[in-house]
Amino acid sequence: LKTLILNGPNLNLLGTRQPEVYGSTTLEMVEDLCRTHGSSIGFEVTCFQSNLEGALIDAIHSAKGEQDGLILNAGAYTHTSIALMDAIASVELPVVEVHLSNIHAREDFRHVSYIAKVAIGQICGFGPQGYTLALDALSAHLKNRQA
Ligand code: DQA
Repeated sequence: LKTLILNGPNLNLLGTRQPEVYGSTTLEMVEDLCRTHGSSIGFEVTCFQSNLEGALIDAIHSAKGEQDGLILNAGAYTHTSIALMDAIASVELPVVEVHLSNIHAREDFRHVSYIAKVAIGQICGFGPQGYTLALDALSAHLKNRQA
């Protein structure tokens, strides 16, 4: 099975960005964790980060037919991007939404997620471990679908 881990704006700064909110783990460490955990449960993991909405949309389009599912932390685009939501709806791939922080415990504007409307589910508040939980959730979803 193949999955693409997509990280959106400002997540390239993980480790130094507001560590009191997002912790001290870098994006490189998160991506290593995803590759290691992914391969232990049978996933070939590809990682991509961009600060550009269009680049994320292009990556979602390219995943169609290439990947079995996506794991997406869209950063602040989560709360604003109808275009990302439409891209996910267009490719018909299962998407697990991830946030390091518990967006529901934060400012009101973070409580709305356009991604949640087209995702199979959302994992938030567990820091970097959220990505491994998302891999497990995607794996279970794909297995259930085959059965
Ligand atoms: C985030 C939460 C978003 O509200 C924020 O804009 C981010 C990171 C998270 O992982 O907790 O950039 O997606």
